[in-house]
Amino acid sequence: MDIGGGASSLAGHLLSRGYTDISVADISEAALGRARDALGDDAERVAWVTADVRAQDFGRRFDLWHDRAVFHFMVDEADRANYLTILRGSLACRGEAIIATFGPDGPRQCSGLPVQRYGVEQLHDALGEEFEPVSSVLVDHPTPSGNRQQFLYGRFRLTTDPLEHRGG
Ligand SMILES: C[S@@+](CC[C@H](N)C(=O)[O-])C[C@H]1O[C@@H](n2cnc3c(N)ncnc32)[C@H](O)[C@@H]1O
Repeated sequence: MDIGGGASSLAGHLLSRGYTDISVADISEAALGRARDALGDDAERVAWVTADVRAQDFGRRFDLWHDRAVFHFMVDEADRANYLTILRGSLACRGEAIIATFGPDGPRQCSGLPVQRYGVEQLHDALGEEFEPVSSVLVDHPTPSGNRQQFLYGRFRLTTDPLEHRGG
């Protein structure tokens, strides 16, 4: 599951490397439409879900949850709590989440919106003890306008049975 995948080309890259059972969810139907159009006929091999990650029952669980630049927009505690309820309920047992947020030296805002910057310990604190850290890396991400933004990529494994979290 690429959550908040928007118009990203990740799904196409995964398909070209032989991955199957790929889902992309985003609150923006227009962004998903751009990603779908870019894939042409291959778009049929991806499940596209228009959804608000804070309030969506995906009706299944995923082995891997990937989020680049969505969770860091959740600056309200209630939004983070709702996101994490959905994440825990959507991951398979021992499933993993790769969450990419702005890092400690990353921007404080994106597209005019405030963001929360994270170091790996802070991100682990935010996700909670049900997740164990697997690995992390800080990356200087080049933007189309030539600037650089520091991202933290954190990989975490769910250590508890997601069924315990159904219903919040
Ligand atoms: C900065 S873009 C990142 C897009 C993509 N992940 C990437 O790295 O190229 C953030 C994306 O999150 C989506 N988004 C924001 N809030 C969301 C929410 N509550 N539920 C689902 N998607 C959301 C936006 O529509 C947008 O496509």
